[in-house]
Amino acid sequence: MNAPRVLVAYGTKNGSTASIADIIVTALTAEGVHADARPAGKVRDVDEYDAVVLGGALYAGRWHRQARGFARRHAKALHGKPVWLFSSGPLDDSADAGQIPPVPQAAEAVRKLGAREHTTFGGRLTEQASGFIAKAIVRNGRGGDFRNPERIEQWSKTIVAELRANAGSPSGKP
Ligand SMILES: Cc1cc2nc3c(=O)[nH]c(=O)nc-3n(C[C@H](O)[C@H](O)[C@H](O)COP(=O)(O)O)c2cc1C
Repeated sequence: MNAPRVLVAYGTKNGSTASIADIIVTALTAEGVHADARPAGKVRDVDEYDAVVLGGALYAGRWHRQARGFARRHAKALHGKPVWLFSSGPLDDSADAGQIPPVPQAAEAVRKLGAREHTTFGGRLTEQASGFIAKAIVRNGRGGDFRNPERIEQWSKTIVAELRANAGSPSGKP
């Protein structure tokens, strides 16, 4: 069987979600999967991919616009392909402490795309972030880097395991 091709699409404002997508791609590639990370707003079609991971940054309880738009535009084309979703946001250890329910827009994407799973990863906010509120949060000492590469890698490995299990299923389909 050819190695599966996985698209890791992301919606980011300040780059942290893009860096999480890169960690996922590195982890998938290390497991022998072809994976590309691309900004969700730039993806024209998903035909060449067997599976998709879609992630969006959280801002004020909303899932990044590009992640939402991707889910809307590609829902039909993704029918029958396995999809995993993630959000990135919390500026504390809460994402690692337990499952955080998806915000409503991400929950809607779970339904629309029939996603296998949604998970939340810790975010990052530094003084380089754009926006007055972001800078104020950092100034008040509530910024920081709460990404957890190990957990992101572990999650990526569960995706590979599911892809392999699918490939071995009698129908060859998820
Ligand atoms: C104005 C503002 C609002 C935010 N709102 C949320 C939120 O509602 N939930 C959350 O978990 N994180 C929130 N965050 C944290 C961001 O999601 C976090 O910094 C994330 O890593 C940003 O991703 P990005 O760098 O890809 O844009 C907020 C950050 C800012 C600056």
